[in-house]
Formats: sequence, structure tokens, C-alpha cells
Amino acid sequence: MPQYVAAIDQGTTSTRCMLFDHDGKVVAVGQKEHEQIFPRAGWVEHDAKEIWANTREVVGQALARGNASNSDIVAVGITNQRETTVVWDRTTGEPVYNAIVWQDTRTGKICEELGALGGGADRYKDKVGLPLATYFAGPKVRWILDNVEGARAKAEAGDLLMGTIDSWLIWNMTGGVDGGKHLTDVSNASRTMLMDYRTLAWDTEIAAEMKIPVSMLPEIRSNSEEYGVGRKSGFLAGVPIAGSLGDQQAATFGQVCFTKGMAKNTYGTGNFMLLNTGEEAVPSKNGLLTTLCYQLGDAKPVYALEGSIAVTGSLVQWVRDNLKMISSAPEIETLAREVEDNGGSYFVPAFSGLFAPHWRADARGAVVGLTRFVNRGHLARAVLEATAYQTREVLDAMNADSGVDLTELRVDGGMVGNELLMQFQADILDVPVIRPEIAETTALGAAYAAGLAVGFWSSLDELTAKWAEDKRWSPAMPTEERERLYRNWQKAVTKSLDWVD
Ligand code: G3P
Repeated sequence: MPQYVAAIDQGTTSTRCMLFDHDGKVVAVGQKEHEQIFPRAGWVEHDAKEIWANTREVVGQALARGNASNSDIVAVGITNQRETTVVWDRTTGEPVYNAIVWQDTRTGKICEELGALGGGADRYKDKVGLPLATYFAGPKVRWILDNVEGARAKAEAGDLLMGTIDSWLIWNMTGGVDGGKHLTDVSNASRTMLMDYRTLAWDTEIAAEMKIPVSMLPEIRSNSEEYGVGRKSGFLAGVPIAGSLGDQQAATFGQVCFTKGMAKNTYGTGNFMLLNTGEEAVPSKNGLLTTLCYQLGDAKPVYALEGSIAVTGSLVQWVRDNLKMISSAPEIETLAREVEDNGGSYFVPAFSGLFAPHWRADARGAVVGLTRFVNRGHLARAVLEATAYQTREVLDAMNADSGVDLTELRVDGGMVGNELLMQFQADILDVPVIRPEIAETTALGAAYAAGLAVGFWSSLDELTAKWAEDKRWSPAMPTEERERLYRNWQKAVTKSLDWVD
């Protein structure tokens, strides 16, 4: 009888379920996109109930396509878009408001007010490793409690629960109103601004300042342990849920970055570079986040430095959906290949402000350097190059914070199929860029965490041995040209600042 680990990857644009065999190979996939809700400029929401329904559907698809039943699944691992926040009623299971997505900027004022209590954007940084920014979950909960009628009273009466998407799924999977477990893991908890990264416990003072009742918060657990089993009457009935990691931590795990100094960069809706800093949490002086990388059961936690970029792949989607310049995302490469270079144009996609290393909520998108010479091809180049330049900003910050220069970068995610981008990335970073054979590192990482917990895989060494290089892009651009382009990019960034009062 074949045995598999199932991974549920609940991402920003879609939900997927993948079955992995013991070799770490993908056996079957189910996938479904969900609606992106943009009620106002800068606001981004998801329907949490749609996400839960899609999760059930894609698990069903994967099982059917893999010709598998519950008894073939030894464990399920969960990985999720991080920071996206749901507040729901524990007595009815109904969310009180749409999930507020990580890209949403509505909490700008709340963040400013908290910073004004003293310390500015760095008010909680020493405890939580994060600057006060619209990106994180805590202020999103505060917004819901302040703005949804009756929510605060219900929260204070103990009727409301909060969670990032991992918590929402685990609660529903393990029983919902009928005894669902209200849990999160250290990686997701480290994105709320409410967890002390040293003690791995909720910081009640910060919660009080944000006016979030602690009764709403889930229990914090490690990334690899048995949290519960699929509910009796539900899908995955009786299957242990044994792994949970935020998607970027899961990709780091799937890229087997288990040793201090190893890093990966994922090219998804946004880009997220994580550097494993071992058992030491390194505070950043250069605009990076200090975050949990992973914790396996009772073992000591492993930390990471992270450079989060809000908009990379989603810029290509925007060009497709809002400008209709292309009809599918891969066409951006075909268009970009029609020309030799960017024709002098630069596109700063500050749609959610700028994240690392700038943390400027007041930034908005800017296209600069236009002349009548510039055509669609040049703009397509500028769109792709934006991902590479933003990655360079983050890599420079990482080298400065860690004091060691990265000598190569492991990459994964949707955009790593784009050869033009990957070559340009190696050129702009001046380090080799390496894609692994198993490119589905996010789902794989969640599967690995769950499989380790139930003994399907025995050790990190066993997982490391499965990693293999698929393709490597080596830098080939003259230094002068690299630095000229990057200088222009930095100038372009200054034009995107100061757009929001
Ligand atoms: O922090 C946000 C990140 O987890 C979103 O990842 O892959 O859904 O763009 P992704």
C-alpha cells in the first residue's frame, strides 16, 4: 500500500493540496483560486469561508487524482499565506468580517497611533522583531474590533477567536464549533506583532496596548507535532494534522536550509528571502525582520532574518488583469524578449507601500524614465526587473546584517520558470541563482514537517539528501552596467515615496 503525506498550501491567490510520496515526489495536486476583494484603494480582503470550502475541495481533488483514500495519508501538513487575519465567532463558526490580507494597508493610522505612544515604528521591535507596519496581524485584529459593529463586546465576552489562516483551517478541520482546536505555530505567531520571539509566548502588554483580549488568541505550538486529527465526519477524518508553518518558513524548510547561513528566495505574489540564523535571533539594523524559522517539537527554535517584498509576481498579474497588456503571466517574458533592455524605464510597484528594507507605508507605485521611445516590451522588462532590483535591496541588507556575504541563492516559486528574470537576477545580485529539482518547496516543507512528526521521515539529514539542483544561472553582466542599472532603480524608488498623507 503506498503511503503519502498531504500538504495543504493556502496561498494568497489559490489553495492547493499536494500528495507527496516517501521520495518527496509530487503524486497528485488539487488547486483552486479564490476571489480577491478590493473594497477600496489599499484594501485587500478574502472570504474566509470560501477559503475553507476551497480547502475541502482541493483535498478531495488531490485524493481522487492520486487514487488515494484517508487510510493512505499518514499525516497532513498545513502552510499558509502569513499575516492574513480572520476573526470568527466560536459559537457559530462565522467570521465577523472578511479576512484582512497581508497586503492591506488600512491599519496605517493604527500603526502610527501605536508608534506615537513612544518609540515610533520600532516600539515593539525588540520584543517581536518587527517594525510597526500594516503588514502584520495584530493591528488588523484591532481594526476589526474597532470597526465591526458589536465585535468588541463579543470579543470581551470571550465569544470571538482570532487567527491567521493556519488557525482558521486547523480549527475547522478539527471540529469547528464542535470542539475545534484553536492553535497556531511559532512561525505564524511571529507575524502577529503579539509574540515575544524569545519566550515564544504572547506578550500581554502589547496585546493590551493593541486592545486585543488575550482570550481571542490561539495556543502557540511548534511546527512539527501532532495537533489533532481530521474531524470524524469531515474530510481527512482521523488523519493526524502534524505540521504547520507559514508559507515562507515552509519554503525554507523545503529548500532544506537547515544550517545557519543558508538562504532561499521565493518568487510568489511577493518575494520573501529568509536566511537561517540558527538558534540565535539576530536583530536587524537594515530593515529586515527577525522571525521564527522553525521549531521541531520540543527542540530549540531556529530563527531567521527575512526580507519581505510585497509586490513581485502580483505586478505581473496586475499587468495582465488591470492593463490587459498580456493574457497570461508567462507572456510577460515573451514580450520582454522583444527588446534588448528596459529602454530607460523603471517600475516601482509600491502598491502596498514599500516593505523591506524601506517600510514606507506612504509609498505608491511609480513608473519613471519614460520617453516616446519606450514601448510595451520595455515596460515588460521594467516589470520583471523590478523583482530583481527589490531582491538586490534585500540581499544587500542581509549581507550587512549578518556580516557575511551570501555566495549563492536558492530560489523557488512561480516566477523561477522565467529564464529572462532568473538570468537578470543573477546579474543584478552578482551571485549564482539556483533552482532545485523539486520546485514545490512550500508544500514540500509542510509535508516534511508533518512527515517528521509521525516518523514517515526520520531526520533532517534524510531530507537534506533529497535536495538536488535542477538549474543554475551565473552572473554575466559587467560590473559597471550592473551598478548603473541599480543606481537608476534606487533613484526611481525615491520617486515612489510620500504619496499618502
Ligand atoms: O507574508 C505573506 C506571504 O506569506 C504570502 O505568500 O506565497 O501567498 O504570496 P504568497
